[in-house]
Amino acid sequence: MRTLLCPTPETTRAAGRSLGARLQPGMVILLHGDLGAGKTTFAQGLAEGYGIGDRVTSPSFALINEYRTGDRHMVHFDPYRLEYAAAMHDIGWLDYVGGDALMVIEWPERLGDSVPIPYLRVRITASDDGTRSLELTSDPPDFVRTYEEAWP
Ligand SMILES: Nc1ncnc2c1ncn2[C@@H]1O[C@H](COP(=O)(O)OP(=O)(O)OP(=O)(O)O)[C@@H](O)[C@H]1O
Ligand SMILES: [Mg+2]
Repeated sequence: MRTLLCPTPETTRAAGRSLGARLQPGMVILLHGDLGAGKTTFAQGLAEGYGIGDRVTSPSFALINEYRTGDRHMVHFDPYRLEYAAAMHDIGWLDYVGGDALMVIEWPERLGDSVPIPYLRVRITASDDGTRSLELTSDPPDFVRTYEEAWP
């Protein structure tokens, strides 16, 4: 497991950028963390690093935001406001599994057991001084090895 301390929003974004530059089409990235932890901030950097030219915004209301820049394709999910896990199934998020889109998922715990493996998981925890602690893990556990060098 790799842990990184990010004292400012810009350092959290930079951590996302560094990881994003190493990602491949079709990968699944889960972003865990409380309300306001910095999941969307991290996703903005991730998208930049992956080569998405548009500014990423929170999909809290749309549930799914989709971005394309050249051959780069990213979908950003936020099922926080879903009443029940099956609703995410109804809106078709599983259609993206196995495709070319980088899948970035906030509040993945709302999706129950339906999250496809392998995935990378970033867990963001805020401390009182505003610093975020970012933990990078994966399922299967060894999958993360290739990506750990993204963070010093
Ligand atoms: N070190 C930090 N890293 C990231 N964000 C920070 C940091 N310090 C302060 N912030 C602020 O915390 C907020 C994080 O908001 P963000 O929308 O990224 O969180 P979120 O986890 O996506 O929330 P939600 O659960 O509502 O989707 C931003 O306003 C950001 O400026
Ligand atoms: Mg968010």
